[in-house]
Amino acid sequence: MSQFVHRDGLLHVEGVSLNVIAGRFGTPCYVYSRAALTAAFEDYRTALATHGIADRALVCYAVKANSNIAILELFADLGAGFDIVSGGELARVMVAGGDPDKILFSGVGKNRAEMQDALEAGIRCFNVESASELEKLNEVALAHGVRAPISLRVNPNVDPKTHPYISTGLKTAKFGVPIEDAPALYRRAAELPGLKVTGIDCHIGSQLLDPAPAAEAAGKIVELADQLAGDGIVVEHLDLGGGKGIRYRDENALSATDYLAPMLKVLAGRREQLLFEPGRSLVGNAGLLLTQVETLKHGTGKNFAVVDAAMNDLMRPALYDAWHDIVKVSRGDKPSAARIYDIVGPICESGDFLGQARELALAEGDLLAVMSSGAYGMAMSSNYNTRPRAAEVMVDGNEVHLIRRREQVAELFAGELLLP
Ligand code: LLP
Repeated sequence: MSQFVHRDGLLHVEGVSLNVIAGRFGTPCYVYSRAALTAAFEDYRTALATHGIADRALVCYAVKANSNIAILELFADLGAGFDIVSGGELARVMVAGGDPDKILFSGVGKNRAEMQDALEAGIRCFNVESASELEKLNEVALAHGVRAPISLRVNPNVDPKTHPYISTGLKTAKFGVPIEDAPALYRRAAELPGLKVTGIDCHIGSQLLDPAPAAEAAGKIVELADQLAGDGIVVEHLDLGGGKGIRYRDENALSATDYLAPMLKVLAGRREQLLFEPGRSLVGNAGLLLTQVETLKHGTGKNFAVVDAAMNDLMRPALYDAWHDIVKVSRGDKPSAARIYDIVGPICESGDFLGQARELALAEGDLLAVMSSGAYGMAMSSNYNTRPRAAEVMVDGNEVHLIRRREQVAELFAGELLLP
């Protein structure tokens, strides 16, 4: 059930109209639905139960998709683990009440301080991405008198058929180690006294709509696990990464049950624990970016609606040419003629658009909702053009909770120093 519907001519998130939210918190503002976030997590839980693996699988939310601590808290309460990629994300998860024993630490460039913090927190596993990282982590662990649990992120060389910027499992990617090199690296890891080999990890890309590449990758991971077992290295878990796509426009996005089916067929009868690292599919459709039309510019060959949100708030259209539906909050109150608009921000860049060639009947002051912005929206925002970042709110039924207050301009340069 969608938590984003027009009622009485106004777009609502659960029980609250976006007019009310704009009035209380201003724009631009990210608005999330607690019910939609919960439903997205439940979709995975249903999938695990349906496939009969609930007792040996763990969903570790990829924090990078949206790292607001209230969202992390919600997922922690629902029983999620977390996939982190920095010491900063570790700190957020800890503040949000995440269980360290359910934290995976991914990323190609972990530094010693981050390794140390994660070891002290007692995380579940480091997803190691290079030979050099194995040696470094071994040293850090030994210096702390502990053994670091590791899996190697292997690159199965599978084409995920997604946008090149978010495809990660090909040979040419900077991520992971080539699967052919994995056996030797595992043997090395098994020799190092500061490491404990616990798993195999892979993540082939993001916004995947076809389940076949993930299943193909799982097949290669299983082969590797069997090969390692032949070498006396027995892993406890297989981490299949994240990547399940969502509907932005007209994509046919599968339920978790259907998306995971081909992969789980490959994994049937295995004894290892299965870990998943979904990001986008847990938060993407559960949030929108609320913005107001500042200025309309007609007739210069194109029509522009300049809104108060910009590429610094939502970078995906500028960076990936990504499509987000843009809808009017208020339907039919001022009957004006529809025109074709580029919806642009106030930033001094031609790439600063949220949507192009959208047919809308607009007046200055109208509120617009940029849909499906819950993933990689606020998380990728910046202060470019010295723009304070947006407020974030979470709707829960008829209640609205401010989960991040709007930044103040003075905060943006608070850490800067004038010359002596
Ligand atoms: N695990 C690892 C190791 C990852 O690198 C990622 C995403 C995930 C899990 C979660 O993937 P998801 O389920 O969200 O597809 N900024 C881009 C997406 C970048 C994805 C980076 N890695 C976008 O806005 O489309």
